[in-house]
Amino acid sequence: MENNRSSWGSNLGFLLAAIGSAVGLGNIWGFPYKMGKSGGFTFLIVYLLLAIFVGMIIMVSELAVGRKTKLSPIDAYKKVSKKFAWIGWLATIAPFLIMSFYSVLGGYCLQYIALNMTKLSFGNEAVAMSGGDVFGAMLTTPLGCVVFTALFIIICMVIVQGGVSGGIEKFNKVGMPALFVMLLIIIVRSLTLPNAVEGLKFMFVPGYAVKAGFIDEAPNLITVLGTAGGQMFFSLSLAMGAILTYGSYLSKDENLVKNSVIIVAADTLIALMAGIAVIPAAVSYGLSQGMAPGEITLRGPGLLFITLQDVFSNMGKIGPLFGVIFYVLVLIAAISSAISLMETIGAHWIDKDLEKGETDTRKRVILIVALLILLEAIIVAWDGLGSNFSPASLLGITTVPTFLDCFLDFFDCWSEGIAMPLGAMLMALMIGWETGPNLVLDEVAHGDPSEGFKKFYKFCVKFVVPIVMAFVLAGQMIDFFGANEIIWYVVAGVLLVLFWIIAGVGNKKEA
Ligand code: PHE
Repeated sequence: MENNRSSWGSNLGFLLAAIGSAVGLGNIWGFPYKMGKSGGFTFLIVYLLLAIFVGMIIMVSELAVGRKTKLSPIDAYKKVSKKFAWIGWLATIAPFLIMSFYSVLGGYCLQYIALNMTKLSFGNEAVAMSGGDVFGAMLTTPLGCVVFTALFIIICMVIVQGGVSGGIEKFNKVGMPALFVMLLIIIVRSLTLPNAVEGLKFMFVPGYAVKAGFIDEAPNLITVLGTAGGQMFFSLSLAMGAILTYGSYLSKDENLVKNSVIIVAADTLIALMAGIAVIPAAVSYGLSQGMAPGEITLRGPGLLFITLQDVFSNMGKIGPLFGVIFYVLVLIAAISSAISLMETIGAHWIDKDLEKGETDTRKRVILIVALLILLEAIIVAWDGLGSNFSPASLLGITTVPTFLDCFLDFFDCWSEGIAMPLGAMLMALMIGWETGPNLVLDEVAHGDPSEGFKKFYKFCVKFVVPIVMAFVLAGQMIDFFGANEIIWYVVAGVLLVLFWIIAGVGNKKEA
């Protein structure tokens, strides 16, 4: 079977694909506003620490388990663990749920590209609506959203059907450099707008966001830990099977530690660059309109689809051109992530067919995956972020916890909120206490890690990662379910201890 299994054309191709998976809406949309909301600089420091001590560790682990087993998540976990084989299912269902809204957001990007192209051809007056009106009109036209969502899914499907090196790698080899150049163009434009420096201060000067009135108060450190942890995991595509799957197509000769460092560094760099492209432009526009800092929409979908559209509409004749460049850039980021999710979902069945000796079933499997994604995505596209209906309205509930706000949040809660932190916690416990860290370190050794790295890895995977993940899990629960914070810390703590015991008890001693 191994002979027929897909593989990357080169290490560079793998790197660009993995960076493509990591760089997505999480970087361009999530990172800037979460950084602002969580007090700017503090968030950045916490984020970087987490990326080094937790993100890197899980990245190396996933790549190693993938490459060692040369299997998709479901079979890979079954092979390495007796107790936690079901993590593989978590890591396959979660990407499926993420695609329910990721493809809808991709569809929004397509619509905004079309909008700005119309303005470019027929003048800004062609659609003389504010960003808010455009967004509202789009959300309340569900059929349009469904059509563009379907278009996005079809684009991703065709790429993934092209194969690992023939489709995914090819797309990223062109897409990633293009994204980088476009981001630079937007940064230059953004930083040369009046008052852009206020946006930079919002991001980088400790305490400025509160002092200047952008937000009311900075959250406490534990909340920042939860937010930064959740963001870091999502942004690095961790604990969703994607990195494991991409690792399973990687050649034995490549150095996993070096590759992980490059992926983490590139993803963080692009997130920061996206912040510098987006926040100063949004702040500059808001201040020029006489808004108070607190009135500028810097968070949620509003930042990308309302505030920034206003920025481009107010740049004169050339504005729509920047609009097209920006939304194409976001679209590339969204596609490069979505194809990794699609590949992860389909990989198990493609492998299964290979086992049976059927070599050419990729096209069929991915078509079925795409159709299933379309089914769930229609719900998210149709509810229009809760404008048309929501889980809460269907249930007739009036005081609404976040996870029932709209179907996007509902699916996000199960995937990003629960499956992701739980999956990462379980993976670390499995490696640290059930199989032993050599499961990963022996595989990494094909690229020779130093003694220092081995010690660092063992300590982090056994202690740091599980504990941090419990905090992230609690933080996500508080975000999604609200209610009493203490309860969620207790729940996360109990789960941690329980799984820790399960992982550690009754294992045969390692030779
Ligand atoms: N990392 C992507 C982003 O930042 C999202 C993603 C998560 C992709 C998990 C694949 C797996 O948007």
